[in-house]
Amino acid sequence: MPLVTSTEMFRKAYDGGYAIGAFNVNNMEIVQAITEACREEKAPVILQVSKGARAYANHTYLVKLVEAAVLECPEIPVVLHLDHGPDFETCKSCIDGGFTSVMIDASSKPFAENIEITKRVVEYAHDHGVVVEAELGTLAGIEDEVVVAEGHASYTRPEEVEEFVAKTGCDSLAIAIGTSHGAYKFKPGTKPQLRFDVLEEVSRRLPGFPIVLHGSSSVPQNYVEMINTYGGAMPGAIGVPEEQLRRAAELSVCKINIDSDLRLAMTGTIREFMATHPDKFDPREYLKPARANIKEMVRHKLIHVLGCAGKA
Ligand code: G3H
Ligand code: 13P
Ligand code: ZN
Repeated sequence: MPLVTSTEMFRKAYDGGYAIGAFNVNNMEIVQAITEACREEKAPVILQVSKGARAYANHTYLVKLVEAAVLECPEIPVVLHLDHGPDFETCKSCIDGGFTSVMIDASSKPFAENIEITKRVVEYAHDHGVVVEAELGTLAGIEDEVVVAEGHASYTRPEEVEEFVAKTGCDSLAIAIGTSHGAYKFKPGTKPQLRFDVLEEVSRRLPGFPIVLHGSSSVPQNYVEMINTYGGAMPGAIGVPEEQLRRAAELSVCKINIDSDLRLAMTGTIREFMATHPDKFDPREYLKPARANIKEMVRHKLIHVLGCAGKA
């Protein structure tokens, strides 16, 4: 089937108490690993491309890689999504260039400005059959510790969500409930805990509306150890516990964003290969096990975290 929007996927995910995996793609091996796992597990999937990915690999290469995956995996629905679109022009370029979904991230702007920018993207996107994810609240992180301590200023304010969704017409909403981007999400020695009270209040105010969680890598400790064993230095890397993501997926969260975990699997595998095969210099020899390990990680998430295996 051709690329689809996320509308039908989210409706089924909401009703079924599971979430769709939204995985960041930057090269062929990552696209292949994700889509092969999804095809084998019969899971719908969102492949997302950041501004950085477009700068690295080029828009056309990424679109063509995803189109190739769609041809190879005709049984599963695939969405091509812009991750963290920074402005109208970037969103327009992706809408005009074959994407079926875009995120406009104006969450760092004041509320009224966020509404204004998001609304403009929604109007253009909907005119072209493309759906829009928007964001309210800024993701917490270790570097935001002070802000969080001062009255939870980073978390999404549930009292704002109805007005935001009504005025913008966005199709899904990313909220901040304690996740953060990257591999250092919580302070070592503290108990990672998402703000389910905020999620539940948002859902109560937006019944049936799909919620998105960014910064949802779990930072598997086997890959952190692998990286540290083979010359890397990632002390204190900690992610979101899988059981909390599972709980979010059972609630109103329909899209869970994962990038860092793919990077950890790829980097750990390549570091180990390089260290244990100092004589090898064919990139296919280290990209192959890296791709295989990403695939197994994605498979695990589809079955045990997202709950979307068998839902295609
Ligand atoms: O949310 C950020 C994603 O992990 C994409 O990261 O901007 O380095 O491609 P990137
Ligand atoms: P992670 O850094 O936790 O993988 O989050 C990725 C993300 O939110 C992409 O938008
Ligand atoms: Zn993100």
